[in-house]
Amino acid sequence: MRIDGERMRQDFEALAMIGATPEGGVSRPSLGEAHLAARAWFLERAEAYGLETRIDAAGNHSAVLPVDGPTLLLGSHLDSVENGGRYDGALGVVAALHVLLALRETQLPLALEAIDFTDEEGTLVGLLGSEALTGALRAEALRAPRGGRTALLEGLERAGLHEERLVDARRAPATLAGYLELHIEQGPRLERAGAHIGIVTAIVGSRSLVFDFHGLSGHAGTTPMNVRRDAGLAAAAFVVATNALVVRDFPGCVATVGDMRFEPGGFNVIPGAARVSLEFRSTEPTQLDELEAALRREARAAAERHALGVEGVVVGRWKPAALHPGVREAIASAAASLDLTAIELPSGAGHDAQALAAVTPTGMIFVPSAGGISHQPSERTSWEDCLNGANTLLHATLELCRLYAVRGA
Ligand code: GLV
Ligand code: MN
Ligand code: MN
Repeated sequence: MRIDGERMRQDFEALAMIGATPEGGVSRPSLGEAHLAARAWFLERAEAYGLETRIDAAGNHSAVLPVDGPTLLLGSHLDSVENGGRYDGALGVVAALHVLLALRETQLPLALEAIDFTDEEGTLVGLLGSEALTGALRAEALRAPRGGRTALLEGLERAGLHEERLVDARRAPATLAGYLELHIEQGPRLERAGAHIGIVTAIVGSRSLVFDFHGLSGHAGTTPMNVRRDAGLAAAAFVVATNALVVRDFPGCVATVGDMRFEPGGFNVIPGAARVSLEFRSTEPTQLDELEAALRREARAAAERHALGVEGVVVGRWKPAALHPGVREAIASAAASLDLTAIELPSGAGHDAQALAAVTPTGMIFVPSAGGISHQPSERTSWEDCLNGANTLLHATLELCRLYAVRGA
């Protein structure tokens, strides 16, 4: 049994036109107009194929093959980073839909649900839909979200969602049979190994923090260098120190300053305030705690050197997750049955699967990313690899159904 590759390709390419950018990628930040259009397209396609559809209280969009039994979820996300690539998330959602189409005439012991999770990328909150579904969404994450409270409220309003009802998307773990996600690797390892398929062992945890440095703005021409309280300078020193700290003391971690803003901002005004948006990642929970403490020390030291105040606020917090050994085996046997080579590897990117892993047997299938490039428009995976991934998803689904039937018998 195989996915109808031509039909899937047409859908994938139609989806890539929604929020398309001139550089060949897509820009579909969570709950913006392009993202909402992509989600509407997904439901329309599913309905045109005659599938049942539903939207839950967190805005997760689904197509369903119902049976009287627990549900095996297959999915990913249709939002993208600003000016991102067309494969991240989208491949997993389109492939999930096409697995349902391939299996619609097959009698299965599990309901299948192709699901597009809300706000995976964290333009607003991060893993919003998957954490709502698993019951992990915290009120604190909504009060001080990564993308700012105003953007969150505006996005929810645009999508017709209600903050107080998001948690109603929670599903009892007993109603779930598992979760499978196909995704591009977003790194270079599969390509370097010459492997078709990656079987993900674990997903990194991450934290996002905002550091605000408070100094004193002033005249850039008349204020002597030795009396300045330049918030921009301290922030810049902190950025450099962050990199040095991680390279020196946290070799298993990565940290990135993705944004830095100065206030008031101008050639001839000393910055009185600076905001640094930083995230760091590790597969080890204790390393996340230790690195956060070390970063706070670096921020204080940079602030003190320039006679400033500083505060750091956590605006996103995601746990690392180990993926299920039995599901990993099912993926391995699916790849082998298709004569595809597979290797195991951890994921340095965050995924909805890390939320699902806390409540149901979860696995992820990776396919190679050309040059390891992702989160930018030139992100690319050959169509052959996309289809290999989709067929592996199909056969892993069949294998999990088979195992469920054997266990249930
Ligand atoms: C999601 O793509 C992330 O890892 O930031
Ligand atoms: Mn993704
Ligand atoms: Mn992404």
